[in-house]
Amino acid sequence: MKVPANINKIWKRAIRARLRSYSPYSKFRVGAAFQAGSEVVSGCNIENASYGATLCAERVAIFKAVSEGRSLIKDMVVVADTKDPTPPCGLCLQVMTEFCPPDLNIWMATSKKVFRKVLLSDLLRIPFSRTNLLSKSKSK
Ligand code: THU
Repeated sequence: MKVPANINKIWKRAIRARLRSYSPYSKFRVGAAFQAGSEVVSGCNIENASYGATLCAERVAIFKAVSEGRSLIKDMVVVADTKDPTPPCGLCLQVMTEFCPPDLNIWMATSKKVFRKVLLSDLLRIPFSRTNLLSKSKSK
């Protein structure tokens, strides 16, 4: 799939971030990047000897952006060195739900530029969100 020039630019940033992946346990290097206003923000997966403390590339990038006051996230690119493009995990989809609209374009990609574009709402069809918290009944 041929992608627009801006997506290619974001993909290159994801590729660069991927090189900084700290993944001594899985050896599965992932990079993520997206447009946040006028800037591209990127992240890589960061693992931990206590495996559950690992953060995926997508969440690292999102938390970086949010902590810098940038929550206008567009065109999420995720890249791994795989045959087929890698989808974000369920936890990352949940975090995306918090900060991104359901029509967020997610560009799953490989390091050889195989792309597959999906919407956040395709990957997480019935998300749990703040609206569910607000619809809590009055009783305990
Ligand atoms: N990982 C990501 O960074 N993003 C994904 O979309 C899928 C999984 C990371 C987490 C862990 O460091 C490694 O890949 C293997 O699960």
